[in-house]
Amino acid sequence: MVAFCLFGAGVMGTVHAANIADHPEARLRTVVDVAAAAGRAIADQYGAVYLDDADAAINDPNHDAVLIASDARTHADLAARAARAGKAIFCEKPLDADVAKAEAGAREVEAAGVPFQIGFHRRYDPNYRGLHQAVASGEIGDVALMRIVARQPEAPSREDVAKLPANLWKDLLIHDLDLARWVMGEEPVEVFATASCLFAPWLKEAGEVDTIAMTLRTRRGALCQISAGAGSAYGFDQRAEVIGSVGMAAVDNLRSTTVERYAADGAKRSNPPADFLERYTTCYREELDHFIDALNTGAMPTPGLGDGLQALKLAEAGIASARTGAPVAVTG
Ligand SMILES: NC(=O)c1ccc[n+]([C@@H]2O[C@H](COP(=O)([O-])OP(=O)(O)OC[C@H]3O[C@@H](n4cnc5c(N)ncnc54)[C@H](O)[C@@H]3O)[C@@H](O)[C@H]2O)c1
Repeated sequence: MVAFCLFGAGVMGTVHAANIADHPEARLRTVVDVAAAAGRAIADQYGAVYLDDADAAINDPNHDAVLIASDARTHADLAARAARAGKAIFCEKPLDADVAKAEAGAREVEAAGVPFQIGFHRRYDPNYRGLHQAVASGEIGDVALMRIVARQPEAPSREDVAKLPANLWKDLLIHDLDLARWVMGEEPVEVFATASCLFAPWLKEAGEVDTIAMTLRTRRGALCQISAGAGSAYGFDQRAEVIGSVGMAAVDNLRSTTVERYAADGAKRSNPPADFLERYTTCYREELDHFIDALNTGAMPTPGLGDGLQALKLAEAGIASARTGAPVAVTG
C-alpha cells in the first residue's frame, strides 16, 4: 500500500486524488494546499488529513510518496524537499516554471536516488503509444518528419499567466515537446519558433502568445513541426503523424461516435473531446498505475527527471527563438 501526500488541491490535484483513492494499492493520507478550503475539501472527500505545514507533511514517516500538483513555481522546491526526506515523487509538468530552479531541484532528486515520475500523460495514451511503437519497432523506417497539432478552445486566462508566465509554451506545448522527443527517439539539437497573439488581447498586453509554430531539428536532420495554440472552438484538437523512410503513422482526434451524417447542405461528424480532462482521463489513471507499479517492483518510473528537464529546455529555447527570430541550439 503506497501512502500519498498530495500537494495542490486544484484541477489536477482533484484528478490525481480520485485516482489514488480508486487504486487498490494506494491511499491518500494527507492533502497540503496553501488554500485551506480547497485542501480540506479534498481531504474530507477521501478521508485524508489536511495540513498547511509542508515540512511536517514531507517529513511524515507514514508517507511513501508525494504527488506534486501545486503551482508550477513550487514544483522543483517541493521535489527537492521530498527527495531529501527520501520520498518517491510524482510531479506534474512542468518540472518548474524556471529552468535554473528545475536544474537545481533535479540535481537534488538525482542525488537522493528516489523514484521520480513527471506527468507527461501523453506517453500513457494508447494512440500515441501506437505511434511511438510504429517508430521504435522500425516499421516505418527512419523518421524524416513528425507533425503535431495541439490546439485548445480557450486561450490561457489572466490567472493562468499569473501562475505560469510563458504559459502556452510551458503549460500546453511542453507536452508536445516531450511527445516529439519520445516518439522520434532522437534528441532535438536546434529549434526555430515563431509565435503570435491572435485570439486574446489581454495576453498581448502581458507579452504572452496564443499561437505557436515551432520546428525541432535532431542531429541527424529529422524534423518535427508543432502547431500549438488556442482558438479551436470545435474542441481539444490533438493530432500527430510521423513520416518515415518506408511508411507513415498517424493519430487522429478521438470522437464520441464514428457516425458521419451527410445531407445536401454538407456532412457532419462529432467534434473532438471538449478539453484535456475529457481527452486524457484514462491516461491520468494509467500514469499513476505505472508509478505505483514501479514503487512496488523497485523499478524507476518513467518519464523521469531528464525528460522533464529536456522538455523545459526546449520550451525555453522556443521562447528565445520566437523573441530573437533566430534558431536556438539546445544541449542535452
Ligand atoms: N498533465 C496535465 O494534463 C495537466 C493539466 C493541467 C495542469 N497541469 C499542471 O498541474 C499543475 C497544477 O495545475 P492546476 O490546473 O491543478 O492548478 P490549480 O490552480 O487548479 O491548482 C493548484 C493548487 O495548488 C495550490 N498551491 C499553490 N502553491 C502551493 C504550495 N506551495 N503548496 C501546496 N499547494 C499549493 C493552489 O492553492 C491550488 O489549489 C500545474 O503545474 C499545471 O501545469 C497538468
